[in-house]
Amino acid sequence: MDQNQLKKLVGEKSVEFVEDHMILGLGTGTTVRYMVDALGKRVKEEGLDIVGVTTSDRTAEQARKLGIPLKSVDEVDHIDLTIDGADEISSDFQGIKGGGAALLFEKIVATNSDKVMWIVDETKLSPKLGSFPLPVEVIPYGSQKVFERFEKKGLNPKFRRDAQTNELVRTDSNNYVIDLYLHEIDEPHSLAEYLINQVGVVEQGLFLDMVNTVIVGRENGPEIIPVKR
Ligand code: A5P
Repeated sequence: MDQNQLKKLVGEKSVEFVEDHMILGLGTGTTVRYMVDALGKRVKEEGLDIVGVTTSDRTAEQARKLGIPLKSVDEVDHIDLTIDGADEISSDFQGIKGGGAALLFEKIVATNSDKVMWIVDETKLSPKLGSFPLPVEVIPYGSQKVFERFEKKGLNPKFRRDAQTNELVRTDSNNYVIDLYLHEIDEPHSLAEYLINQVGVVEQGLFLDMVNTVIVGRENGPEIIPVKR
């Protein structure tokens, strides 16, 4: 199976956890695309009655086309479950997210959810976080100063640019993303604390102590891992 087949596998598996009348957080990314397709199918074929809370314009557009009813996070009093992808998951189930620049809305939706599920192919697992560059969303005004501060601290920052146009990437909130090339993150909690306290930083991509279930796409089928909290 190639990586896309593994993503499809976990995307489809995850919607088996969706029950009638749930309010569901819908993540962002190529794995989530498969999940949203499978969810749309259940809505259409089974008349599944759910409300989706999306984490990006991309996911909202896809869900809308599939006839999934949507509300914003401020219009719901709770979210039962959020299903999202991840860029890297460590052996103690901490995560890096934001490879698709949706980290801010993803974190808002995840922290307002009763349960969080991540769906990943097995290439996303690593003993320690850091091999995936850590995304930090910053306000454009003063972003060069934030960048310089990161450089001085040895965090190997790089502004994210569009691969085709070379323009600076803008998030759905019109901010920039600075990726930190760290290779290994020894103390994710203190790094997260440092980053979020820098003026100009809107959000950072360490998603710590947040996930309740991980579904990993493996050659021999999806592995469901409950995470103790
Ligand atoms: C979006 O900003 C990310 O957090 C995605 O959830 C993450 O990048 C996983 O994306 P893929 O499923 O495309 O690998």
